[in-house]
Amino acid sequence: MSSLVWSDALSLSMPVMDETHREFVDLLAEVQASDDDTLLARWQALIDHTDDHFGREDRWMEATGFAPGSCHMTQHAVVLKVLREGAALGAQGNLAPIRQMAHELTIWFPQHAVSMDAGLALHMKSLGYDPVTGELARPEALPEQPITGCGGACGGHGHGESAAETPPAQAEATAHA
Ligand SMILES: [Fe+2]
Ligand SMILES: [Fe+2]
Repeated sequence: MSSLVWSDALSLSMPVMDETHREFVDLLAEVQASDDDTLLARWQALIDHTDDHFGREDRWMEATGFAPGSCHMTQHAVVLKVLREGAALGAQGNLAPIRQMAHELTIWFPQHAVSMDAGLALHMKSLGYDPVTGELARPEALPEQPITGCGGACGGHGHGESAAETPPAQAEATAHA
């Protein structure tokens, strides 16, 4: 089962996002390298990190004009729910779903990073929004209508629709695993 390795292709030129994504990749690799005795603890560490990771991105979206429940936020919620379902099954002694989900995450994550997260990074940059301090340099550039699409690549910013509109098939597959 192949593991995901960090590369510059995953970089979004936004250090605070890249650092978190690099940690995600490392934690996922640790899950995949786990034996049965350590798998559950490492899976839980990945879930805790992902909860924080997605929560932060959700707050950035809320601060920069996204509607509650926009598709990027929804995908975060779906993925996190599935990961927790894996933990529940694992706690019952069924570890196979976690191993399958870990594999699917190696496919899902790069797609998510280069579509939805990349769109969000561009959106924040276009507003002069600093995700570390929360300062907004160009509040006049905030969208007039809440963004319901993904990543800022749509919703009236003139960047056109993004392939990120469609949740990756992997997320769907994971949801039904
Ligand atoms: Fe992310
Ligand atoms: Fe994201």
